[in-house]
Formats: sequence, C-alpha cells, structure tokens
Amino acid sequence: MKNNRFIFALVVIAAFAVVGAGISLIFSRFIDFSDAKSIETVAQKSIAAKQAVGAVVFNPPLPRDAPANIKDAVMLGYNILTDTGKYAGQYVGNKLICSNCHFKGGITQGGKNGGLSLVGVAASYPEYKKRQNYSVDLVTRTNDCFQRSMNGKPLPADSKEMIAIVTYYQWIAKGLPIYADIPWLGVKHLKSAYKPDAAKGKQVFAQKCAMCHGDNGQGTPAAPPLWGKDSFNDGAGMHKLENLAGFAHLNMPLGNPGMSAEDALDVAGFVTTRPRPHFIGKAKQGG
Ligand code: HEC
Ligand code: HEC
Repeated sequence: MKNNRFIFALVVIAAFAVVGAGISLIFSRFIDFSDAKSIETVAQKSIAAKQAVGAVVFNPPLPRDAPANIKDAVMLGYNILTDTGKYAGQYVGNKLICSNCHFKGGITQGGKNGGLSLVGVAASYPEYKKRQNYSVDLVTRTNDCFQRSMNGKPLPADSKEMIAIVTYYQWIAKGLPIYADIPWLGVKHLKSAYKPDAAKGKQVFAQKCAMCHGDNGQGTPAAPPLWGKDSFNDGAGMHKLENLAGFAHLNMPLGNPGMSAEDALDVAGFVTTRPRPHFIGKAKQGG
C-alpha cells in the first residue's frame, strides 16, 4: 500500500513538472529576455572588436609572483636587467645597466617616463627580416644590446644568465597574444622635418642634461654616462640620432620631460657626435 502511494505521489509531481514546463514555455514568448541577451551581445561584440583591431591590455605580472618552477630564473633575469654589472658583469664593458634605457627592467608601458618597455617582446619574437632573409630571436636581440648598448660580449645561448633573461621576458609577457600589435614597444620617433643642429644641442645639453649626466657626459652618481669610454658604443641603437631624440623627448630630463622636438633633435645631434667606444663587428642592427 505504502509503495502505491509513493508511486502515485511521484506521478503527480511528474505531471506538475510537465505541465509547468509547458506553461513556462508558452509564457516565455511573452516575457522579455532582451536585456540579458543584449548584455551578452555587447560583451561578444567588444571581444570581437578587440580581436579585430588587435588591442592588448597592459597587465604584466610581478617577477616575484612567478610560479615556483620558474621563479629562480625569472628573479635572476629581473636582477640582470636591473643590476647588470653585479649579475652578468663578465659580459658588460661599460658602466650602464639595462634599466638605464629599459626602465624598471622593462616593466613599463613605454611612452612618457616609461623608457623602453620589454613587456611582450616574448610575444613579438622571433622577428623575420625579409630584407636580410633571416630571423632574429630574443637571444640574438639581447646579445645585440650586450655587445652594443653595454659595449660587452655576447652571452652563450645556454648560459644560466641568458636562459634567465629569456624566461623573464616570457613571464612578463603572460597573457599577451603571440604576434599581437603591442603599441608600447619600441622607440617612438619624432615626426618633424627639423634639421638637427649640434651647436644648439651643446647649449641644450649644458642647460638640461649636464647637471645629472656630467659636464662631459661622463655620468655622475645621479645619472649614467652619455658618451666616453663608459657609455654605449657607436653600434648601439641609442647612437642613432632619431632614437636618442625620441627617447629623450619622452623621458629626459628624467621625471620631468618636456623639451620641444627641436631641442630633443638638437641635443641628440650633439650627444651622437661625441666620442664613444667603437663597435667591432657586423653593423647589421642596433642594440
Ligand atoms: C634629473 C637628472 C637627469 C637629467 C637632468 C637628465 N637625465 Fe638622462 N638619465 C637620468 C637617469 C637617472 C637615467 C637612467 C634612468 C634609470 O636608470 O632608470 C638617464 C638615462 C638617460 C639615457 C639612457 C642611458 C644613457 O646613459 O645613455 C639617455 C640617452 C639620457 N638619459 C639622455 C638625457 C638627455 C639628452 C638629457 C638632457 C635633455 C638628460 N638625459 C637629462 C637622469 C637625468
Ligand atoms: C643605452 C640604452 C640601452 C641599454 C643600456 C640597453 N638597451 Fe636594449 N634597446 C635599446 C634600444 C634603443 C633598442 C631598440 C628599440 C627599437 O628597436 O625600437 C633596444 C632593444 C632591445 C630589445 C628588443 C626590444 C623590442 O622592442 O624589439 C631587447 C630584448 C633589449 N633591448 C634588451 C636589452 C638588455 C637585456 C639590456 C641589458 C643587457 C639592454 N637591452 C640594454 C637601448 C638599450
């Protein structure tokens, strides 16, 4: 008897469920779900729009937040970038550190006061150069800066230091799509037809740079050397007038940039004609 009642109860519940579903189906035609739907479509559209223009979000993780299996390498990479002489001294031939140009180890959004970012280089390389018909990977590109910007020696690809640097690039690129258009990378050149005048640049240097970089560009405790034996060599990217002008315009005087494009071009014209170490090697690209 008890069993029969139980089964009867189940049948009644099932019947209600079926009828209920039917009713809600009929009523759903009259209920307006368009709000929920429109929110969904807006979200989908914005994702599609971002993908369409390749927009990327600047949100690099901190080096110390790297997972345990790569943390030692990431931290060593970060230390090399921010204290190069101490952590990779045998490969450095001047008194610069990577961070003097790649501010904060390159963990910046570039632009004003950001120096040269390295966030996302791991998503941008290898870079295929059609003209030279070869592909530049990050080991080669990093060694360009060691040999030119640091006036030093290339690191073996399998050295502890190079593996650490590349692991570091990879970690700070977390979440960025491979080969996305990353707007904060690279030197931003000035758009100006102005012809640089090194004589005027000498005056700009005396007024706006010498108090930190020294009267003879030799560097002081307040700023690294701009020319002379302790600076980057003549094969370096920063030795190109348009690179130095673009960098100085956005970043110098440090913390308070604001030179006119003309002053930036003039001072770059002056600094790039001062004596500095000579790069011995193939003059293929700047570092
Ligand atoms: C307030 C001090 C200060 C002034 C003034 C200043 N700089 Fe700098 N500059 C620095 C510091 C500090 C760095 C390194 C930044 C870092 O390590 O984060 C630097 C880095 C540089 C670098 C890259 C590293 C190197 O030594 O090559 C260049 C190029 C440069 N400055 C050019 C200039 C020029 C040109 C001017 C004048 C228009 C200027 N700076 C004025 C403090 C200054
Ligand atoms: C005197 C300034 C200076 C110093 C010091 C310097 N670099 Fe660079 N670096 C540059 C310039 C200029 C570029 C070229 C940026 C461009 O192509 O727009 C560059 C490019 C790079 C790139 C490629 C970035 C890109 O967007 O394609 C990497 C990687 C790099 N440097 C790593 C390093 C490392 C590692 C060190 C230290 C061992 C270092 N750099 C020291 C000036 C410097």
